[in-house]
Formats: sequence, C-alpha cells, structure tokens
Amino acid sequence: ALVSMKDMLNKALQEGYAVGQFNINNLEWTQAILGAAQEEQSPVILGVSEGAARYMGGFKVVTSIVSSLIEEMKITVPVAIHLDHGSSFEKCKAAIEAGFTSVMIDASHHPFEENVATTKQVVEYAHSKGVSVEAELGTVGGQEDDVIAEGVIYADPKECFELVQRTGIDCLAPALGSVHGPYKGEPNLGFKEMEEICNVIKLPLVLHGGTGIPTDHIKRSISLGTAKINVNTENQISFTKVAREILTSDLEVYDPRKFLAPGRDAIKATVIGKMREFGSANKA
Ligand code: G3H
Ligand code: ZN
Repeated sequence: ALVSMKDMLNKALQEGYAVGQFNINNLEWTQAILGAAQEEQSPVILGVSEGAARYMGGFKVVTSIVSSLIEEMKITVPVAIHLDHGSSFEKCKAAIEAGFTSVMIDASHHPFEENVATTKQVVEYAHSKGVSVEAELGTVGGQEDDVIAEGVIYADPKECFELVQRTGIDCLAPALGSVHGPYKGEPNLGFKEMEEICNVIKLPLVLHGGTGIPTDHIKRSISLGTAKINVNTENQISFTKVAREILTSDLEVYDPRKFLAPGRDAIKATVIGKMREFGSANKA
C-alpha cells in the first residue's frame, strides 16, 4: 500500500530499527526493491532524485510504474514514493501532484533563514495533502546527481531544533559526516551530535550516504535515533558488476534481458541484506 513516511518512521524510531530508502532509476530497480520488501515483509521507501525522475520521463511516469507494480506484484507492505533532495518548493509540489507520498526539501545549501522559509512552505502544502516532509541541515559530502558538495559541514543542533520548531517537518537529515558515493577510508560520523539532535528534536533522523557505512556504525546510528537510511550507490555497484561480467564474458549477448534480469536479482539481494541489517525485516 502507498503511504507517507510519517507512521513508518515514527514506528521505526519507537521500536529501534531503520527503514531503508532505496533509490530507483528504472523498471528493474523498482521491481527489485518492491520484491525485496514484500519477501522480507519490510516497509520500504523508494527514493527518486530529480535526475532519476527526469531520466524515467517525469514524476508521473514514476508514480505510474510504482502503482502498477504494487498492483501486479500484489505488494502489501507499506511503500512510500519519496522525492530525494528536492531542490525547490515548485519541484516538491509537482512531485506531490503526480502522486508522491513523501518529499525531501533540501535547502541545506541556502542560508538558514531561507532554508526555514522554503521548508515551511513545503510542509504547509505537503501536509495539506497527507504527504510527509524531510528537511536537511549541514552538508552531506560527495556527489549524487545534481547534488554536489564541496566538503562536509556538520549540522548545528541549535539550528536543528529551531528548524523543526518553525516548520513542523516529519523527519530531519542532519549532515554529520556522511558522504554520497563511496567513502575514502572509514566514515567519521558525529555520533555525539546525532544523539543530542535526536534528544532535542524528538523526531526520526535520516542518514544519507548509506553506502559503505560499516554495520557497527549503522547499529550505533539506529540506537541514537536514526530511523531512515538512504542507500543508492551500493545498488548501482551490485547491478553494474553483474551486467559487466555478463557483457565482458560473452561478447555475443545482445538481448538486454540477459543482463538486466541478473542485474535486477543482484539489486534485490543487496536490498534484502540491508533490510535485515537495518532491522526492518518483518516489521511491515
Ligand atoms: O539520497 C540518497 C542517499 O543519500 C544515497 O547515498 O549513494 O552513498 O548510498 P549513497
Ligand atoms: Zn542523500
């Protein structure tokens, strides 16, 4: 069933696990992630970046594919379609009009007052439609589609509190050392700040840059209030590794299904592993 993230994440925070956001790129990604969720009886968040939505042909194409698959695959677990790193009020509104059940407004690179104002505008519109909102403070490192960061800036707990109070968001992504794409060495997450922020805002926290974070850091993040973990790159690597092996080992292959289907299976296996690691399996 298509739902917002609100109840999903509040339940996860209360019960001490995290729901995975897995980004989709096309039909195969969507099939793999929905299939994994159903098999694991896990709630799931389908993340859609603006770049991925453009690639797939627009927001409406995304929601059409997702709702058709939910019906055809008989998916009964809770599913949210979430705009990942929404860049403006207009983009969030367009996604909601197309049927997204959740949006992230990422105004983290703007001055604080502007972040508050834009986030508040998104919350007012989204909540009037039953859609949940995630906001961000600080800077997640690395690059994902249109989101490019120069260095990492930790979120300030005081600003987090003020943003929550003034906007009424449902969950917050405080940047605390995580990076989009592979890490260079061990990630250096700000656990002290994570705990402090969750204690003052009393909302589920979101961890971006889930690829490459060791399991003990994942578990610690969950114990400190992280209830949503975003994973994108790891599925891209799983798919591409399998596709590349098939294409390089057999130069006669031309039917795309010969590498798309095994690639899809690889994504599904990766997602199942994450659902178990995050503790969301059997929590649907
Ligand atoms: O918003 C999406 C995530 O933060 C993905 O990060 O590609 O490093 O897994 P990742
Ligand atoms: Zn992200």
